[in-house]
Amino acid sequence: MAGEKRNIKLKIDNVKKIYNSRNGEMIALNGVNLDIMENEFICVVGPSGCGKSTLLNIIAGLLEPTSGAVYCDGNKVEGTGTERGVVFQQYALFPWMTVKKNVMFGLKLQGIKGKEAEEKAMKYIKMVQLEDFLDHYPKELSGGMKQRVAIARAYAVNPSVLLMDEPFGALDAQTRTQLQTELLETWEKEQKTCFFITHDVDEAIILAQKVIIMSARPGRIKEIVDINIPYPRTQETKMSSEFMDLKNHIWGQVYQEYLEVRK
Ligand SMILES: Nc1ncnc2c1ncn2[C@@H]1O[C@H](COP(=O)(O)OP(=O)(O)O)[C@@H](O)[C@H]1O
Ligand SMILES: [Mg+2]
Repeated sequence: MAGEKRNIKLKIDNVKKIYNSRNGEMIALNGVNLDIMENEFICVVGPSGCGKSTLLNIIAGLLEPTSGAVYCDGNKVEGTGTERGVVFQQYALFPWMTVKKNVMFGLKLQGIKGKEAEEKAMKYIKMVQLEDFLDHYPKELSGGMKQRVAIARAYAVNPSVLLMDEPFGALDAQTRTQLQTELLETWEKEQKTCFFITHDVDEAIILAQKVIIMSARPGRIKEIVDINIPYPRTQETKMSSEFMDLKNHIWGQVYQEYLEVRK
């Protein structure tokens, strides 16, 4: 990809979000500006409550900013759109639908039916290695498998942007590592713009081309750290001094913000 000219995929333009809570107005985000390039993999880290999910929901079009705007491919985001797929930490699968039906759900909404929907769903069910569980219900699956279904469902409608809010946060370390590897392999193949929230600094460095560090509330962008470690990244990558240095730096910055929250 080196040298290739890339377009701005997502433009976050001076976004501010005020919540009207029981205790009055609460500024969750203030003056957030960020350009995300096509096919870029961005990870966002920051202390709990700094507005990461708020920002993701605004990009998804699930929440409206109080002022400012988000643009996707130059168009102002004013609601959800099929070019922006979302994966949440909680699997958000329909418990009454089988794996296959869950993955086909978004396709149905797009008016894709019958054989075509089935073929598309199967492609992504295979991608997440769940072809032996087509007719299983979510309650019959492990946490990792459920999250695989959620990922397949997001991919099936072929979004150009994937918005992921701590998608692996509830999984055990081994499953998380496995899903990270799979996600990176898919990202290298399918080339999507990824906006991935995590509280795990290791995860951010393994996945991202850029790590966005957010400040304590009201959330702002504190620092953007370029991760210039070549892909594919493996478990050995975590042993390199380059990785360690980045980890020390990012972790230190996040910790400072965490202390701010506790003040
Ligand atoms: N619907 C809401 N109403 C009022 N306050 C909210 C609402 N959603 C989130 N908040 C507050 O906004 C801040 C940012 O929340 P959030 O975006 O979930 O942070 P993060 O994902 O970084 O943990 C928090 O202090 C949270 O309590
Ligand atoms: Mg959150």
